[in-house]
Amino acid sequence: MGSCIIALDQGTTSTRALVFDTHLAVLAIAQREFPQHYPASGWVEHDPEDIWQSALATLREALKVADIPAADVAAIGITNQRETTLVWDRATGRPIHNAIIWQDRRTADLCTRLREAGVEAKATEKTGLLLDPYFSATKCAWILDHVPGARASAAAGQLAFGTVDSFLLWRLSGGAVHATDATNASRTLLYNIHAGEWDEELCRIFDVPMTMLPQVRDNAAEFGHATADVLGQPVPIRSMIGDQQAAMVGQACFVPGMMKSTYGTGCFALLNTGRKAVQSQNRLLATVAYQLAGQRTYALEGSIFVAGAAVQWLRDGLGILHAAAEADSLAAAADPAQDVYLVPAFVGLGAPYWDADARGTLFGLTRATSKRELARAALESVGYQTRDLIEAMRRDWPEAGATVLRVDGGMSASDWAMQFLADILDMPVERPRLMETTALGAAYLAGLAAGLLPRPDEMTQTWALDRRFEPNLLPERREAKWQGWRDAVARTLQRG
Ligand code: G3P
Repeated sequence: MGSCIIALDQGTTSTRALVFDTHLAVLAIAQREFPQHYPASGWVEHDPEDIWQSALATLREALKVADIPAADVAAIGITNQRETTLVWDRATGRPIHNAIIWQDRRTADLCTRLREAGVEAKATEKTGLLLDPYFSATKCAWILDHVPGARASAAAGQLAFGTVDSFLLWRLSGGAVHATDATNASRTLLYNIHAGEWDEELCRIFDVPMTMLPQVRDNAAEFGHATADVLGQPVPIRSMIGDQQAAMVGQACFVPGMMKSTYGTGCFALLNTGRKAVQSQNRLLATVAYQLAGQRTYALEGSIFVAGAAVQWLRDGLGILHAAAEADSLAAAADPAQDVYLVPAFVGLGAPYWDADARGTLFGLTRATSKRELARAALESVGYQTRDLIEAMRRDWPEAGATVLRVDGGMSASDWAMQFLADILDMPVERPRLMETTALGAAYLAGLAAGLLPRPDEMTQTWALDRRFEPNLLPERREAKWQGWRDAVARTLQRG
């Protein structure tokens, strides 16, 4: 049995491979960024060959850096940007179009037409999702409708659909396995999350032939082998899981009520709701958190489009920072008497507003306003948006927010932002020692499937705290600030 596990983390802007030992310590990391393509306004694509080449290169490099022979790899775990859609030819393995990325809005009109036709309630009831271009179904239909001959080839059973996990598995296994996992399936709008199966009626409505769909497996399972040409000898692939769900596993959020929030460019907050999928009344998503031994655990999810991107805007758009880390000291020096609010609706607002037409606004500027107050407003906007999500979660599921919020992702390194988050939520915020939670989640599940690592309840004990931020703001001040945010959002939405 091998002595290490590789997690392959295929994200939106880069691909990373991490080698872990069997105590889940990181031995090596390799990373490759790849180009983003914006062929039209609101469209975002990746070249599938870039995805594939970056996966191969990082797998090989990480193993080389760790100086471990392929024979010692017990398992590969794959985690990935979710919803991103690929269609490929089963005979050649070649995609018939670029990957359409989760951020891509090209199917907005199709979604509106389907909504007007009354499809949304049924889709939400079965999938837990909303009728939005974010998800895979309309992206797949778009490819079939726009690539000449694709509909006919699909009808003849020649084409395969997959999210990035499926595509990588297909390529790694030399075309031997066409499978996905329950978390990735749950982001397609084609998968009934209650029954745990592809839904015939939804496939008909979205016009996606069922013959194109991958087989759905547990998150810790036998997915086949990476062929010998990948790492020098066959290596088993033993987990696949969407990246936000992987972070939830990496944060050991295994108990109902536990919550994690990942702060990258945007932010994804997931709340474990246990064996029951909670149908949101507040425009959050119900989704599969993980599926082990055939048993599904569900999550309520809220997505914010701009978190770390607000700080990037200060740096790259306004040029008032040289490095993102400077935002902390500027915010700390801001004038407490000035109430400046930034609503960073640069690409619309996500949950719980889902207003694609909203645009960013700044409120409360005076002649005394400086870059310090702007930096504070940007960091605070992340806290306020997280509270929006958690308030919506509490309305959907009263137990939400009873415990703590575990955080990860690049922006969670900001002590100032994390303290404000605890203050505005009135809830402790915990940052783990190991920030690579997404890769850790995939590696843990692969190790579990390999029989190297214990069941989740024991795994929970290995989670280690870096820092806990306790709420420390007077209730009147907290609520006054919160009302200021609510007012700023209301005025932003009115302008749309
Ligand atoms: O739903 C999209 C999400 O999975 C993307 O995550 O980390 O690749 O931006 P990331």
